[in-house]
Amino acid sequence: MAERGFPSGFFTRIDAEDDSVFYEPARLVTHIDDRAITAVGDLYAALGMEGEVLDLMSSWVSHFHQPPARLVALGMNSQELAANPQAAEWVVHDLNADPVLPFADASFDDVVCCVSVDYLTRPVEVFAEVGRVLRPGGRLVITFSNRCFPSKAIRGWLGTDDGGHVAIVAAYFERAGCFGEPVAQLRTPPGTAGDPLYAVWAATTVNGAGPAGNASSQGPSR
Ligand SMILES: C[S@@+](CC[C@H](N)C(=O)[O-])C[C@H]1O[C@@H](n2cnc3c(N)ncnc32)[C@H](O)[C@@H]1O
Repeated sequence: MAERGFPSGFFTRIDAEDDSVFYEPARLVTHIDDRAITAVGDLYAALGMEGEVLDLMSSWVSHFHQPPARLVALGMNSQELAANPQAAEWVVHDLNADPVLPFADASFDDVVCCVSVDYLTRPVEVFAEVGRVLRPGGRLVITFSNRCFPSKAIRGWLGTDDGGHVAIVAAYFERAGCFGEPVAQLRTPPGTAGDPLYAVWAATTVNGAGPAGNASSQGPSR
């Protein structure tokens, strides 16, 4: 299922079967190393994510050093989500089958999505939906490393490198049409051993007036 502006086949996958099949068994594991996990929590703390937060494509860990006031987790596996100690609420929802988020407009202060954006086949629709459920100026924070379940990642992601992944996520923000200029950073020390942790984030625009409250002054690191 292609989204406009991306090459033909960009959003196809090796395993085109319904996602509910692949995610049926619970995987109570971590998908990045401890240093990268710490880098995710450090970023959330630095951004002051303390209010009502949605963890999109979540599992049993959400990586906050201190849980926000209210954390809602959305993912594919009920056993994983029920085991998430930081989530006050959780919901099973397949974003590739239905990118419409099951939440009212302006429900959240911030939305996070960790090591999962590469599995979205309709990402621009999902990002636009995130814009709808965020309060004005709310942020969407996407983090990722350099590994994945290759059979479930989109071919466009598999066909490029870390810099290309940053550019893909930035393009999703731009095409969603409701975010300011994204910030992109490598959050782990460059050139060191271990999983790298990249972050791309942006805030929703307020009445189309441009970036609202994001940290664009830090500039992209790519
Ligand atoms: C690599 S795991 C990452 C889990 C968690 N965010 C973390 O940081 O450990 C990928 C996650 O994406 C979720 N996911 C994959 N496809 C999805 C879909 N179509 N809709 C919603 N969530 C999905 C799965 O439930 C799984 O928890």
